[in-house]
Amino acid sequence: MVSLTAASVVPVSRAMALLSVGCLAAALMAYLLVRQLVKQRRPPGFPPGPSPIPIIGNIFSLATEPHVFLKRQSEVHGQIFSLDLGGIMTVVLNGYDCVKECLYHQSEVFADRPSLPLFKKMTKMGGLLNSKYGKGWNDHRKLACNSFRYFGSGLRLFERKISEECMFFVDAIDEHKGKPFNPKHLVTNAVSNITNLIIFGQRFTYDDRDFQHMIELFSENVELAVSGWALLYNAFPWIEYMPFGKHQKLFRNAMEVYDFLLEVIKRFSHGRVPHVPRHYVDAYLDELEQNSGDPSSSFSYENLIYSVGELIIAGTETTTNTLRWAMLYMALYPNIQERVHREIDSVLTNGRAPTLEDKHKMPFVEAVLHEILRFCNIVPLGIFRATSQEAKVNGYTIPKGTMVITNLYSVHFDEKYWNEPGVFSPQRFLDSSGNFVRREAFLPFSLGKRHCLGEQLARMEMFLFFTTLLQRFHLQFPPGTVPTVTPKLGMTLQPKHYSICAIRRQQKVPNS
Ligand code: HEM
Repeated sequence: MVSLTAASVVPVSRAMALLSVGCLAAALMAYLLVRQLVKQRRPPGFPPGPSPIPIIGNIFSLATEPHVFLKRQSEVHGQIFSLDLGGIMTVVLNGYDCVKECLYHQSEVFADRPSLPLFKKMTKMGGLLNSKYGKGWNDHRKLACNSFRYFGSGLRLFERKISEECMFFVDAIDEHKGKPFNPKHLVTNAVSNITNLIIFGQRFTYDDRDFQHMIELFSENVELAVSGWALLYNAFPWIEYMPFGKHQKLFRNAMEVYDFLLEVIKRFSHGRVPHVPRHYVDAYLDELEQNSGDPSSSFSYENLIYSVGELIIAGTETTTNTLRWAMLYMALYPNIQERVHREIDSVLTNGRAPTLEDKHKMPFVEAVLHEILRFCNIVPLGIFRATSQEAKVNGYTIPKGTMVITNLYSVHFDEKYWNEPGVFSPQRFLDSSGNFVRREAFLPFSLGKRHCLGEQLARMEMFLFFTTLLQRFHLQFPPGTVPTVTPKLGMTLQPKHYSICAIRRQQKVPNS
């Protein structure tokens, strides 16, 4: 008979325990692997696409210039094709016909936002821009549109306020006395102040360091939101627990921004009189109070902070980048700049400030701004959409909840609609008599239910800032330098840092 001593029992049971843990871990790994591989199978009737790598799918093919890569893929797989972003099945829409068919003709079906772990973590799918398609989005969009109308673009007085900001802007540029400077901060501050007027009823001075810091963190997040780390986080949310990675920076930035916004909201709601709103924040607080007894209401302090942040960044990052590109291209093409100067001088006689009424008298300025928006592709992949119900497109079936990427760059470079799309030519927006002509395949603000809410405001800002700037200055690069036009990648495409000289010009007499 074998007698077991305590000394022999303990190692055996420890080994058994280790073996059991090992088996459990292996089983868990196998389960996760199988689950991942199942998630990576294309559903029946789904559009084809490039072959994915097991587990990570096509994530890394989006690392450099994703909009260009996706357009090239559409030449192989068709205007609508699919991608596997680490188990997140995604459909990519390319070319004007396909984007119009989905976003315009099936507007509701394509009006949702994907429930990505990143969006869930940042805004819990609430707020406005990232909100799921439904009552919450509808309530927030309506409130924002009304606020834009009452406190912004619907007011005659508001145009004067933009003109005042234009003056602060050109005066601040004048302080550089024609010496090289990086226009990024001034443009950002001036542009964000227009949105600030609607949201808070006030502008921030150009030396407000706290506000500037908040905008910097926010714009860094716009860049990080489509980085490889963010895509990995969406596919494998457990990497949240890894102490390193750019997604951690994204979360830290967001927390800091939300704390700042909470303070600012408190400051600007001070002295509020219910039902007499002075700005978006007041109007929101009215809604919050009126709906306080309704459990289905989506108005909350949290959603107020999210929506304020989204409006500030959506309005600032885009319009700022458009104007920065416009300044760069004016210095790059002096002949185009000269024609802009001539048109401005002939309309704004005696140096009077531009107004929106002058817009239709300045077809060339309009053509330049449109070509900047087309050629520079400020939001090249739009904002990710999702199907709110099963969709049928070009004979394919796309299940409800599928993530959808709208390749707006491919619309602006669609050879069917644009002659030599790779050439920068404002002329394409003019007819033979020099009149401005609208072009169908021009979608910088996207289409359908979720199209840009700030389009009208952005158009006002771009025209007034651009004409005021070029009325006063001639733009040129510092001698011996020509900056790159290769964009810095992110959710928006922005120029890399560049320096420019703004030389004061003498306004010419018309037709001289
Ligand atoms: C040149 C300037 C601008 C461009 C190129 C631009 C472009 C876009 C694009 C492409 C979208 C995505 C729409 C979609 O989901 O398909 C969008 C959405 C949005 N934009 Fe803009 N935008 C500009 C200015 C502004 C301004 C000034 C504001 C407000 C102050 C603004 C607020 C928004 C909001 C709130 C959304 C989300 C709409 C929703 O989800 O319902 N944008 N914009």
